[in-house]
Amino acid sequence: MSKFVKVAKIDDIPNGEALQVEADGQTCALVAMDGNVYCVQDICTHEHAHLSEGFVEGYEIECPLHGSIFDVRTGEVKSLPATEDLRTYNVKIENGEVLIEVE
Ligand code: FES
Repeated sequence: MSKFVKVAKIDDIPNGEALQVEADGQTCALVAMDGNVYCVQDICTHEHAHLSEGFVEGYEIECPLHGSIFDVRTGEVKSLPATEDLRTYNVKIENGEVLIEVE
């Protein structure tokens, strides 16, 4: 059964950067944009790189290792060398806290 887990305060997410968080043993990256928060798996689908150490521009996050770009809203891969989409997590905001849904 899935549940929502608190992972950060919304104010903890820096502007134009991703924040790495852990929930139930899963490492994720949070991105805040236009009052919404998006959550994707932190490890790139190409090789082992942390997307939370990459670059955020608008709704896109760029892998710091080889530069693949993903849409944080859908996880969709937008540029090579990665070919697989990211896992996304449902997000809820409650009283300034960010919660993500995990199994
Ligand atoms: S590890 Fe992310 S693009 Fe290669």
